[in-house]
Amino acid sequence: MDLRRRIPLLRWSVWRMATGARNITRTGQIGDGREAAVVDYVLKYARAGDVDDVLATIDKFAYEKSMLINVGDEKGAILDAAVRRADPAVALELGTYVGYGALRIARAAPNAKVYSVELADANAANARRIWAHAGVADRVTCVVGTISDGGRTLDALASDHEFSAGALDFLFLDHDKDAYLADLNSILDRGWLHRGSIVVADNVRVPGAPKYRAYMRDQQGKLFDTVEHKTHLEYQSLVGDLVLESEYLG
Ligand SMILES: C[S@@+](CC[C@H](N)C(=O)[O-])C[C@H]1O[C@@H](n2cnc3c(N)ncnc32)[C@H](O)[C@@H]1O
Repeated sequence: MDLRRRIPLLRWSVWRMATGARNITRTGQIGDGREAAVVDYVLKYARAGDVDDVLATIDKFAYEKSMLINVGDEKGAILDAAVRRADPAVALELGTYVGYGALRIARAAPNAKVYSVELADANAANARRIWAHAGVADRVTCVVGTISDGGRTLDALASDHEFSAGALDFLFLDHDKDAYLADLNSILDRGWLHRGSIVVADNVRVPGAPKYRAYMRDQQGKLFDTVEHKTHLEYQSLVGDLVLESEYLG
């Protein structure tokens, strides 16, 4: 295997990402224009209307140009399998970034409506361009906001989209790691999950969501049945990560 693929510290774009960590929490972007660059790259090199090729082109950019904070190809396979298990009509992702995760969900669930909540307008705009190029814009929607914005985004999902009691089959948590548990609880309070809904959480080990992990351990066999998938952080095989897949038992 290419050493630069295995060892992320050999790549400048990874070092640049570390220095951009403050930007990510504030703006949702690294701060060097890589998110806009991947959109241009996809529009130039990926076949229009070909979801597989768009995803492969984003992965190629992340490996060969600039590292991206997508769920990535390795953890993406875990996400795909969980989506297929849920067989959703309605799926929700928290944290859109450039639209890669939502596109994977849309591919694994070809008849689903996929919603993705994103705090940064610029990321929403980038993702929409990628989804349009992939040909899924009619069933993948980005809602700009956060679950913790005082009910504005939750209300918009309910009134403008199809979120109602028991309507949500699949939830992917991949946004602010400290918000996983509170946002899951807000969604539970709305009653949108049903028995058998699947919740997947990325980055539970790195950067880490310890409160969320402890909650799922505490709820094992009660409100949720959770499998912990041992895997690697996106786009390299040196640093480990955990993806949690939880079936709602409520
Ligand atoms: C790790 S990236 C998401 C990657 C994406 N799920 C994928 O696999 O392609 C995290 C994203 O969450 C967004 N974000 C951060 N905090 C958020 C919040 N509280 N609500 C919604 N989005 C948030 C960031 O702007 C960033 O775009």
